Parts: sequence; structure tokens; C-alpha cells
Amino acid sequence: MPNKDPFVVAIDGPSGSGKGSLAFNVARELGFHMLDSGAIYRLLALKALQLGVDLDDEAGLVDLLDVFDIRFEAGDELAVPYLDGVDVSSELRQEATGDAASRVARHAKVRQGLLGLQRSFFRPPGLVADGRDMGTVVFPRARFKFFLYASPEIRAQRRYKQLINMGLSANIAQLQADIAERDERDQGRSASPLKPAEDALVVETSMLDLAQVTELVLSHIRGK
Ligand code: C5P
Repeated sequence: MPNKDPFVVAIDGPSGSGKGSLAFNVARELGFHMLDSGAIYRLLALKALQLGVDLDDEAGLVDLLDVFDIRFEAGDELAVPYLDGVDVSSELRQEATGDAASRVARHAKVRQGLLGLQRSFFRPPGLVADGRDMGTVVFPRARFKFFLYASPEIRAQRRYKQLINMGLSANIAQLQADIAERDERDQGRSASPLKPAEDALVVETSMLDLAQVTELVLSHIRGK
């Protein structure tokens, strides 16, 4: 009997667990589209910061969704994010933007307001979606669900390398503190807290490199 669920591969996990790079590799191998849902929260946070909307003001943030003009264009590696027609790649990856995004992401009405936009990224032949609640809330019927774990120390090291490679400045102790704070906020919030879906395959990536995690995930998908 054909599986009627949309062919979505959901990849969730905490900051720096390697979701983004894994999602990129898996999408490339399968010829699928991609949704970087964290980038959407980051773009909304950036918009709020630009317009001076308080990150605790849920109604003010929801109002921003009416004038939320974003798009992603194919780049050499990752997609290039545009906010109001302007390339915001470097601002988007800053730790300060990630921190602001996790504050924006606490609000249930904001999360609700972003559901349709996130789901609209699905296109045949399939979608690889990465974030915190892809398998639990946004695509609960995803065909495959993975949840990545890695220790906070390893995640801080990975984030450090990523930022340095992008030509941005970084401080490892600060990154560890930021990651711990962000984990706490993402796991402790009442709206879609970060947790594995019941039917997700949990992958501990601390001792694995990206190629090994990619291989593991692809063989799981292809083996089914
Ligand atoms: O993955 P990334 O670090 O870009 O996400 C930034 C923040 O956006 C996260 O710390 C999290 O609070 C929030 N987020 C979320 N749900 C998602 C993706 C990201 O709450 N699906």
C-alpha cells in the first residue's frame, strides 16, 4: 500500500548538534528541498530588532508576520536568506541573532503563525526540514524523523569552527554559556519544547563526524 504521508525527513536537535550540515547533505543526496526553520525564527527576530519590537511582546511579534517578507535563494553551499529583499546572511548567523530567535520562539502564537509558512516549503519530490519541532509539531506525519544529540562542549566547539570559517569572531567559553542558556530556554518553554518525537530515531553524534552521521541517516532512509 503506498505511503500517503508527504516525503518529509524531519531532523531536530539542540543548537550545534549538526542538524544544518546533515540536512544539507541528506537533501543533496536525495535531491530534496530544504527547510531551515531556525533561519525563519532568526529572520523574524532580526525584523523585530530592526523595527524595535520588544522580543517579549507576543502580539507585536505576531503583527510582524503580516509584513514578513523573506525568501531563500540557492547559494554555493547553504541557501542565501533575504529579509525585505536584502541579503542578511552574516547578521543571521551571529550568536546574538540566535539568542534573539530563541526568545521570539517562546511565544505560542508566533509559533502558530509560522506553521503555514514552514509547511509551504514542502515540494515534491520531498523535503528535509531541520529545527526543534519538525517531527513533533510542524510535520508530525513526516516519513522519517531523526533527533540529534551531542554534548554541550562538542556543540560549542562545532559552533566555534563554523563561525570562524564564516569569518566571524567567536569565544568558546561564551559559546558554551550561550548554548547552555539556549538549551534551557528551548527545552523549558511550554510551546513546542525541544524534545524527540516518540517515533524519532535518536542519534548521539558526539563521537561521530558529519560523514558518519550522514551515512547513518541515509542508510536508515534507504533501508526502509
Ligand atoms: O537552529 P537555530 O540555531 O538557527 O535556531 C535558532 C533558535 O530558533 C533556536 O534556539 C530555537 O529557539 C528557535 N527554533 C525553534 N523551533 C525551530 C527552529 C528554531 O524554536 N523549529
